[in-house]
Amino acid sequence: MQVTGTVLTTRRVDAYHALTVVAPGIAERFRPGHFVGVAVGGARTSMLTRRAFFVHDVKPDYGGTVEFVFSVRGPGTAWLAERRARDTLDLVGPLGRPFPLPRDPVTCVLVGAEHGSATLFTVADALQGRGCRVDFVLGGVSADRVFGALRARRMGETTTLTTEDGSLGMRGRVTDVLPGVIADVRADAVYACGPMPMLRGVTAVAVEFDIPVQVAVEEGMACGIGVCMTCVLPVIGDDGVTRMVRSCVEGPVFRGERVRFDDVGTIPFDALGAPGGGTRNAG
Ligand SMILES: Cc1cc2nc3c(=O)[nH]c(=O)nc-3n(C[C@H](O)[C@H](O)[C@H](O)COP(=O)(O)OP(=O)(O)OC[C@H]3O[C@@H](n4cnc5c(N)ncnc54)[C@H](O)[C@@H]3O)c2cc1C
Ligand code: FES
Repeated sequence: MQVTGTVLTTRRVDAYHALTVVAPGIAERFRPGHFVGVAVGGARTSMLTRRAFFVHDVKPDYGGTVEFVFSVRGPGTAWLAERRARDTLDLVGPLGRPFPLPRDPVTCVLVGAEHGSATLFTVADALQGRGCRVDFVLGGVSADRVFGALRARRMGETTTLTTEDGSLGMRGRVTDVLPGVIADVRADAVYACGPMPMLRGVTAVAVEFDIPVQVAVEEGMACGIGVCMTCVLPVIGDDGVTRMVRSCVEGPVFRGERVRFDDVGTIPFDALGAPGGGTRNAG
């Protein structure tokens, strides 16, 4: 849906900005892992492409609100950081494929880094609604970049925090502590959102423990709706064939072990339809 929504609240959460927008149609259709495409810069802007943000929270207020959390990266996010209550925002969503949820009440470790952690709380809610146990591992470069530590402590059976500078929790990265957490809680599944190298590391750990891992990737996107192919990455299908798939419509959630992390940003020679190769896989 495309919605012109009123900004209800803006807040700072440590290094991040959070915007809550009245968008009933999007809130109603939202599932954990969905994202929104937000128009930035106003009516006369040269910033033509929407910016993608994972939905952090939805609430029933005013017919339905969505909240997203972001840090300032370039001109679009700088413009968003200047929005105030009662401004309007043009949103398209919910976009992408959400996280699949287990049928049985299993134990899940939710791993987030930087703003990626904001994506995990609606996942935790949905998992707990199915009787699953939820444990959090959240990290960031420094304490002010670890999003949602307090909420994780309230929701999770256990919460393990890491920072690269040691200012909160254990010094290091989420992948350093993940093996211990998986072993301690006897995890059945892992859910992760964060930068690509972190997702690669989390996937490697889950594969080592032979448990399923779902990752939500943030591959650069222009259109967000499946038209432009800027967001493609190599993913291995059920048939063992690698395809360049659009993370905005076929993702952003993928089974971690299916993503060829080492080849992201390239078209592997053995991918279906790759220049100079891949055609042997076509039939
Ligand atoms: C699915 C998804 C979810 C995300 N969720 C969050 C979140 O919850 N919080 C957060 O802080 N950030 C999130 N991001 C990153 C966020 O979209 C960027 O920080 C934001 O777009 C930066 O915009 P900018 O104008 O400030 O920066 P700039 O870097 O100046 O602009 C980035 C814009 O350039 C365009 N672009 C990017 N790659 C290409 C390309 N290959 N070809 C053409 N155009 C391209 C896109 O429109 C992109 O939005 C997410 C990204 C994705 C893909
Ligand atoms: S962003 Fe355009 S196809 Fe995915």
